[in-house]
Amino acid sequence: MDLLIFGARGDLSGRKLFPALYHLDNCELLPKDLRIFALAREDISLDTFLGDIKERVRRYVDDSRWSEEQWSAYADRFVYHRVDFGDEEQIRTLAEFLSPQRPVLFYLATPPGLFGPICEHLGAAGCLEGDRRLLLEKPIGHDLASCREVNDTVAKFFPEDAIYRVDHYLGKETVQNLLVLRFGNRFINTQWDQSCVDHVQISVAEPIGIEGRWSYYDSVGQLRDMVQNHLMQLLCLVAMEPPNSMTAEGIRDEKVKIVRALRPIDLENVRDHAVRGQYTAGWLRGEPVPGYLQEEDCPKSESNTETFVALKAFIDNWRWAGVPFYLRTGKRMPEKLTEIVITYKALPHNIFAAAGREDVPNRLVIRLQPNEGIEMQMVSKLHSLRNKMGLVTETLNLDFLGSADLDRIPDAYERLFLDAINGDQSLFVGREEIEESWRWCDGLIDAWQESGLPIQGYQAGSWGPTRGELLIEKDGRSWHV
Ligand code: BG6
Repeated sequence: MDLLIFGARGDLSGRKLFPALYHLDNCELLPKDLRIFALAREDISLDTFLGDIKERVRRYVDDSRWSEEQWSAYADRFVYHRVDFGDEEQIRTLAEFLSPQRPVLFYLATPPGLFGPICEHLGAAGCLEGDRRLLLEKPIGHDLASCREVNDTVAKFFPEDAIYRVDHYLGKETVQNLLVLRFGNRFINTQWDQSCVDHVQISVAEPIGIEGRWSYYDSVGQLRDMVQNHLMQLLCLVAMEPPNSMTAEGIRDEKVKIVRALRPIDLENVRDHAVRGQYTAGWLRGEPVPGYLQEEDCPKSESNTETFVALKAFIDNWRWAGVPFYLRTGKRMPEKLTEIVITYKALPHNIFAAAGREDVPNRLVIRLQPNEGIEMQMVSKLHSLRNKMGLVTETLNLDFLGSADLDRIPDAYERLFLDAINGDQSLFVGREEIEESWRWCDGLIDAWQESGLPIQGYQAGSWGPTRGELLIEKDGRSWHV
């Protein structure tokens, strides 16, 4: 098998792709004959390329998993090839390395504008005969129309069952665990609908800012960068019906029904259902940090791009009728936190009220990062002779890493590479899902623009603008963190 990585000198390759492949190699999970073709524009030697990559991979590999012998076995798999991806002649040179008898994975870690030309040139060069799979990194388009254009172009060269659209959140162990928790535990599954659930919160907070990606990020913003893909996938996994099997088709069919059932956020409700924010200068862990417009590579004095989004969404179907889903994501927040919180409805009648005990609803907290695990908040009796019916809220805490036979949780890209190598698409995004998701986000972006609602400033190091708090508090609820 051959793996061709387009954009091998890019940030994603150094930070995620090559360390993930190193780990897989270390665990003897890569096909023995796998060759890795690192493709980039720079005219450098294989030694120079490997020198740079070694330094980067080393940063992401634990001492216990690093050895020079392992590295040199891994490095032996590499071929570095200089290619200008927009140039048909140069892509043609790849043909001499590939054979129709060897399966090939093409990994496009390039801007989406190059997806079409690369596929066309590969096709023209005769590189697409045999078992060929295409992995596409996000963003796939910046709206429904451009996403369709990319999908139409790649569909001319690859059938849908050979296209692997990467959303790295789906490769996270704990995200997959959502499916197991929901569909492998009867007691969770039977309490998972509007009759039991009061509301759902999904928060994805990051302390980092724009990290040298200002001009890219400014043309995208947090809705396109995080909500359209990662939060939408989490929402689907929380809300979807049980698929009848764990096949890619079964899972995708159920996810797409959720996206279709999402109530549009339009001009009428945008003011109450959506908040956009942009960070201003502030403090994080005792250090001063600049505002979005003062970031080093920011060339502008003003920008209307959001770095924070909070939404109140409804899924108009039988299971979730009337249950709000509060979504929140932002940059420069106080900590790295990805969690899903299911808050259950209050008891029909509180028999402990006479003892002065308020009804505290059960809460299931699914922590995706850091400290992957789940917490169930429940009420129990206070052990005491004096206080006969004193009640306390206790937390059942399941720490996944602690209970696993693992000393680390594998990175998402390890799972995704392995699945693509094995031809399993269940953790990749289907065409319909991604297009429906863009349709919904486009409606929201249009409503934002038409409404002229101003972007809300929030201090770096805070949990977002006050309006983000009000979005949930006006419903008599509050963010879990
Ligand atoms: C990427 C976004 O897809 O996900 C980044 O482009 C974001 O802006 C990153 O920082 C977050 O990923 P993770 O795995 O660190 O939560």
